[in-house]
Amino acid sequence: MNRILIGAQWGDEGKGKIIDLLTAKSDIVVRYQGGNNAGHTVKFDSETCVLHLIPSGILHAGKICVIGGGVVLDPEAFFEEVRALEKRNIRVRGRLFVSDQAHMIFPYHKLLDRLKEESASEKDMIGTTKKGIGPCYADKMARLGIRVADLKYLDYFAQRLESVLKERNETLRKIYNHPGLSFKEIFSKFKKYRKELLEFAIDTPRYLYDATKRGKSVLFEGAQGTLLDVDHGTYPFVTSSNASVGGAITGSGVSPTVIDRVIGVVKAYTTRVGEGPFPSQFPPRLLKHIQTKGEEFGATTGRPRRCGWFDAVIARHSVRINGLDEMAIMKLDILSGLSEIKIATAYRIGGKIRKDYPHSTYEFSHAQPVYETMKGWKEDLSGVKRWKDFPLNAQKYLKRIETILETPIKIISVGSKRAQTVFL
Ligand code: IMO
Ligand code: MG
Repeated sequence: MNRILIGAQWGDEGKGKIIDLLTAKSDIVVRYQGGNNAGHTVKFDSETCVLHLIPSGILHAGKICVIGGGVVLDPEAFFEEVRALEKRNIRVRGRLFVSDQAHMIFPYHKLLDRLKEESASEKDMIGTTKKGIGPCYADKMARLGIRVADLKYLDYFAQRLESVLKERNETLRKIYNHPGLSFKEIFSKFKKYRKELLEFAIDTPRYLYDATKRGKSVLFEGAQGTLLDVDHGTYPFVTSSNASVGGAITGSGVSPTVIDRVIGVVKAYTTRVGEGPFPSQFPPRLLKHIQTKGEEFGATTGRPRRCGWFDAVIARHSVRINGLDEMAIMKLDILSGLSEIKIATAYRIGGKIRKDYPHSTYEFSHAQPVYETMKGWKEDLSGVKRWKDFPLNAQKYLKRIETILETPIKIISVGSKRAQTVFL
């Protein structure tokens, strides 16, 4: 069984927890897009582990993890994570493979990301994680990228870095009035990473082809979410990769014919970190309440996340784009105690009711949510183990979401622990 797990909102849906649960049923876990902008939190026993770049499957002994060619890899962040795992006595070597096709994030990518954000006017700010993700993907598309495989031949690497850096330093000087970065420093840093990084590097499409042929079960771990997808998200307030289902194919080099199921993860409400329109955002008091109760602070940057009602318009868009077979709904417990709960089922834009997510950024930024209001429940859900133990109003809320999204909910999460999960 090969499954793709996708964030169906703006990221931070709780993918880490579901990946952790599904890893138990898989042999191989693959990250295929994004980079260390992700923050996948897994809680087990009394431990909390946040992974940014390495697949969360690494926390399960014996599972193989793959960083696919669609990922942008910052060697510095990579080795930091490797060392942190090894410190916890988690064996990484021989179980973790990196695609030699993966583009590497260089210091100038991080610098450009930061400078661009800092110099942007308020309306143009994306609110990125400043990890260099956007500039690295931009270089990949501009054919100015440098891949892991390019480290194999040091002379070639040096040549390539030199010519790319020349161009990047021009940008730094002319646009940002920055003196530019030193070739020598970057080169010697990467020379140090080189040997160790190449020990992790393999031909991952070949590896995954053989593994799936042999009947191994692969879990594709999506990062970010569909609304952050560079093609299908709320452009330009997106990340720079394909966080929706297509990214799993191109970013790992497997054929869509090997995929059996696509699972979407949604939060029982909506959150967004970074800039960009957010039609169903809560009014200030409720925002504060949910932010605090749901601990809605970024796992990567620590920024507070904006929170709002469940937006079924964007979720329906995700269902379609990804062809979701089923959903996992997270953090339902956080909604306990509200007298009423709303679902945004359409938008009012310029006097017209629109049921579909509009591609026009202008329209989306003027969208007023049209709500359906349901009764809330008081009961604490954190100990619920079975469907029939949910309060009736919680059941109705979940059923309504299923109906609107035409997709079954198979997993309900009522807390961050592994045991706080109801399977339907
Ligand atoms: P996980 O995998 C939530 C957001 C940033 C910003 C935009 C672009 O934990 O769900 P980038 O640094 O990627 O160029 O920033 O995307 N963003 C995320 N938001 N969860 C994430 O990952 C995110 N990764 C990027 O906040 O708005
Ligand atoms: Mg996150």
